[in-house]
Amino acid sequence: LQARLVADIGAAPDLDALESLRVAALGKTGSVSALLKTLGAMSTEERQEQGPQIHALREAVTTAIAERKAALEGAALEAKLADERLDMTLPAAETPRGSVHPVSQVMDELAEIFADMGFAVATGPEIEDDWRNFTALNIPETHPARAMHDTFYFPSQMKDAEGRAMLLRTHTSPVQIRTMMEKAPPIRIIAPGRVYRSDSDATHTPMFHQVEGLVIDRGIHMGHLKWTLETFLKAYFERDDIVLRLRPSYFPFTEPSAEVDVGYAVEKGRRIVGGSGDDEGHAWMELLGSGMVNRHVIANCGLDPDEWQGFAFGAGIDRLAMLKYGMDDLRAFFDGDLRWLSHYGFGA
Ligand code: PHE
Repeated sequence: LQARLVADIGAAPDLDALESLRVAALGKTGSVSALLKTLGAMSTEERQEQGPQIHALREAVTTAIAERKAALEGAALEAKLADERLDMTLPAAETPRGSVHPVSQVMDELAEIFADMGFAVATGPEIEDDWRNFTALNIPETHPARAMHDTFYFPSQMKDAEGRAMLLRTHTSPVQIRTMMEKAPPIRIIAPGRVYRSDSDATHTPMFHQVEGLVIDRGIHMGHLKWTLETFLKAYFERDDIVLRLRPSYFPFTEPSAEVDVGYAVEKGRRIVGGSGDDEGHAWMELLGSGMVNRHVIANCGLDPDEWQGFAFGAGIDRLAMLKYGMDDLRAFFDGDLRWLSHYGFGA
């Protein structure tokens, strides 16, 4: 019996056949198990004689099964390895990759350009109080400029510790106030960030992005402002034929104030996106608000306006991005549509 069983086991073609043989020999009703059961009915002498033989048989069969099993498994593994070999020279499957959003991209560009001119990046909260967003910036409660900002106010019972009304900041100018109150001049900062106004169409979204610039030092004048903006705009638009046009304007927090148009050379009279060509051969786009910081604002922040002067400017970051990358609908910036992003070279 032993010779036959061991031979069968050694010849088992696969793991299933081996398992059947194991059950047939060592299973509950298997041939070896049946022999083991006969031991109980034997006399002591018979058992002393046959017991060791039967146990040796079981040992031999168990060992044979284990050996065959190891051999079959080894062979199966070899076959699997040969079968599933990886071809490392094949190109990898394409997976979509994320990228930086145009607004973030422009914010990074701004920070980099202004860092070269010695400006640090300053930030402030998007939930502001009406003193920093308006009053300190020379926009008192009854000032018409407040109405022009389409402000999102929090409910009137939600006041801050000083009893000031809370709102979503309508511009990044309150960061000017925070910086002047916290840091001693000289100050050179830009403040990029989200701002909010209740307004929505192709060129307005209720949330948009502004960058504010502020310089406070002794003896600062309009020439510094113009040079700074010109240097910035040439670097940002990556062209040297940029010219600026400063138009007199009004902001409560700057005096004098100027609106800044950017012009670049085009053929005479040519129409361009976001502006138009003039007779001198320039295309003009309105881009920034700016001016010399109003002395009331400097005084409101605890500085002596006879000692410290400065200039400030503000621009829409989304608009800067639209002009540089040729986008035409502001709302698309905030739709998260990957097709739109990749059309303009952002995203996968
Ligand atoms: N804060 C102004 C606005 O939101 C822009 C501005 C900033 C103008 C600084 C002048 C100086 O419209």
